[in-house]
Amino acid sequence: MKPITSPHISAELRRRVNAAKNVLVLTGAGVSAESGVPTFRGGGNSARWKGLPFDVISSGAMLERNLPAVWEWFDYRRDVLRALEPNAAHHAIASWQERFAGLTLVTQNVDGLHQRAGSRNVVELHGSAWRARCTVCRFVHEITRDGARPEACDDCGDTLRPDVVLFGEMLPPGAIEFALERAARCELCFVIGTSGLVYPAASLPEVAKSAGAFVCEVNPERTPLSNLCDEVITGKAGDVLSVL
Ligand code: OAD
Repeated sequence: MKPITSPHISAELRRRVNAAKNVLVLTGAGVSAESGVPTFRGGGNSARWKGLPFDVISSGAMLERNLPAVWEWFDYRRDVLRALEPNAAHHAIASWQERFAGLTLVTQNVDGLHQRAGSRNVVELHGSAWRARCTVCRFVHEITRDGARPEACDDCGDTLRPDVVLFGEMLPPGAIEFALERAARCELCFVIGTSGLVYPAASLPEVAKSAGAFVCEVNPERTPLSNLCDEVITGKAGDVLSVL
């Protein structure tokens, strides 16, 4: 049996954690991996759905061409999510609301697991799989965990689409601007479970670093952001954050 080793956390990081007030946390698919949510990339693989690369099925172009196929992919993802629970990493991050006076949690995930763990005011850069949005009037409809999704807009009766950001689409108004402003003001920035390949999300640690923050990555693999980080903790988010 493989021995369980505690991840190495430097004295400097512990000091920074104890002193920090303004903390920005950027999370990606890896933070939900231990809940059983498949990542898009990592381990040398890239996700596919019915033979299509995920960035084709999850694209604005596919939405124009075949909205039912995009819904099918998100209906499938919600079905997977329905049975899953937040993990130790989501719970640790939720507890940081009490620990840091100015915590900003920015996620690229659309799974809603941060909120289910108790995180409030989560900046959802890529939207949520648990919402539908009218393609005409933009009215947003919640999709409950046990309920079916609405067929048409309650407000104007027009067609609904997933309230997520697809490849080739703009981010929700205000979200990245708010996150960038917080990144420029934080003293400590955690980058957890993201491949760091998708912009503008990946620019947040860069902005934090340029503004003088201590940047720490938590990931089992190195990423293009690793070199700019002051500390790279190689390990799974749940294992690392529960000892931090
Ligand atoms: P990716 O799937 O690109 O990357 C997942 C990262 O999580 C990889 O770097 C893995 O090494 C790491 N990882 C895997 N297991 C982990 C664990 N237990 N703990 C910590 N890290 C772990 O996911 P994102 O970076 O979130 O966008 O992808 C960014 C965006 O690309 C997504 O939001 C989505 C996707 O296309 C849209 O759909 C617009």
